[in-house]
This record gives sequence, C-alpha cells and structure tokens, in this order.
Amino acid sequence: MEIHHIGYLVKKIDYAAKAFKSLGFCMGGAVTYDAGRDAEICFLDSRGYRVELVAPRVTSPLHGLMKKYKNTAYHICYRVPSLEESVEKLEKDGWHLFKEAEEAPAIGKDAKVVFMMSADIGMIELLEMN
Ligand code: NI
Repeated sequence: MEIHHIGYLVKKIDYAAKAFKSLGFCMGGAVTYDAGRDAEICFLDSRGYRVELVAPRVTSPLHGLMKKYKNTAYHICYRVPSLEESVEKLEKDGWHLFKEAEEAPAIGKDAKVVFMMSADIGMIELLEMN
C-alpha cells in the first residue's frame, strides 16, 4: 500500500505548521475546516513525504485524544484502490473497523476514508480517491 500521509494531532495548527516548515516542509494548500471531525486540517509536503495536521476544536470528538496525547503523530494513512476490498481483507487479518467510511474534504471532493485498528500496531487510516 502506498503511504499518503502521516497524521499529527496538534493543539495549534499555525505553530505546528511553523515547526514543520523549519524541517523543510511546505504548505500543501490552505487550512481547511472539516465539519465532520470538527477540526482544522492542513497538509505539508517535503521531498515526497506528506504530513497532515489535525487541530480539533474543543467540541470535536477528537478533542479527548488531543488531551491524552498532546502534540503527536497518531496515524499513518494508506491509499488504496477500494476501501471496501481493503477493509474486507484486513478484517480477515484481524483488523477492526473503527468507523464507517466518511468524506475527507481536506484531501479532496471525492476522497473517502476509514480508520482501522490493530491490537498490535494501533490505528491506520485508509484512503480511496479517484
Ligand atoms: Ni489522516
């Protein structure tokens, strides 16, 4: 599977972006508000690597995670040709689907993602986009 991005939970998206810029990353677009996650999201790129900064608002379902982990990497996102097929295959391998597919407007209009969990390596995100 191709890695699309590494997701970071961050408290202050501007400060986090500045820290990644000092490592040579450049903004991959504007900061977007994702209503489903109730979070500000942006992407930064460097030499073929992409990070996603997710800054949950206090009302976000992700805010609890933020309080627990502070500023941290929390998922790797893999791009797959079909969410349905990948979920089915990974479930056979013991992965658990966390949440049904949802839109990911910060990535693109036709982007859909799911989150899955492995007891051995934690959470991943799968992305399908055309
Ligand atoms: Ni992500």
